[in-house]
Amino acid sequence: MKTERFILDTDPGIDDALTILYALASPEVKMEAITVVNGNCPMEQGVINALSVLELAKTTQIPVAKGMDKPLLLPVINAEVTHGKNGLGYAELPAPETKPVEKHAVELIRDIVLQNSGEINIVAIGPLTNIAMAIRLYPQIVQAVKHIYIMGGAINHCGNMTPQAEFNIYCDPHAASIVFHSGVPFTLVPLDVTYQTLMTEKDLQKLAELKTPISDFIIKASRYVMEYLSESQEVMGCALNDPLALAALFQKDLMKVSHLVIDVDTNAGVSMGKTFADFYNYDHKSANGYAALEVCAQDFVDHFMKRMIQLSQ
Ligand code: RIB
Ligand code: CA
Repeated sequence: MKTERFILDTDPGIDDALTILYALASPEVKMEAITVVNGNCPMEQGVINALSVLELAKTTQIPVAKGMDKPLLLPVINAEVTHGKNGLGYAELPAPETKPVEKHAVELIRDIVLQNSGEINIVAIGPLTNIAMAIRLYPQIVQAVKHIYIMGGAINHCGNMTPQAEFNIYCDPHAASIVFHSGVPFTLVPLDVTYQTLMTEKDLQKLAELKTPISDFIIKASRYVMEYLSESQEVMGCALNDPLALAALFQKDLMKVSHLVIDVDTNAGVSMGKTFADFYNYDHKSANGYAALEVCAQDFVDHFMKRMIQLSQ
């Protein structure tokens, strides 16, 4: 089994934190670094959360770097209503003892990707500001990166930030446009599939029996977003948005991807941040990316839960 190496670009965030744990529980992947971006919570808080979650899992060798603290053009928005004041829902972790690396996230991405050309994937599960900056400043990344897996967008599904737009893309649609049109190989993992992969109260009960720091964390963090989703969108569970993007890297048989012309609306207005696929290729363009539009949802949730239970022991 070849280990897939990747950088996690993230705005931790509850499902981001679950993705960090999922990566640590999965020998099929090697998380080379965590780069943090403004999104669910301010970037500085995201760095604290990333360091704290790594320490919770007794892992302190993975470099964490501070990234962009605001979108390229738009004002900062966060998602306190969804992820709580500290970004981790009801969970309270001790302040981390470890510190972020000195290097900026964009430079850390440059160095790891260019020093390991063809070997490094990026799993981007927050707004794409860091990725867009890296591509614009160091365009050789486009050829050197193996593949970028993006949790973001909604193709045939409604948005979760506006009726049209998904949060990560809505936060920084200009960054998304840069990434989509850069020529970089990417796979979008949109709400079309992630909203099918729900961790439910029944799943949390399996973790509750373990009564360990990690199982308690998962329950307290996830409960917060489950309450929000059920009240605001009638979604009955914790949507495993970000963990599914990681699964696109090493559990490819769980989803079906289509090669499409993918774009995003960057104009101010009701559809700002709307991602779409030109299924009939009206503009006769070449497909620029892949999108996961079908998923074996329960198989994925079962796999995720198995790894969480293993990690929580
Ligand atoms: O829309 C869901 C995405 O936005 C997830 O990545 C979640 O963590 C938030 O960043
Ligand atoms: Ca996220």
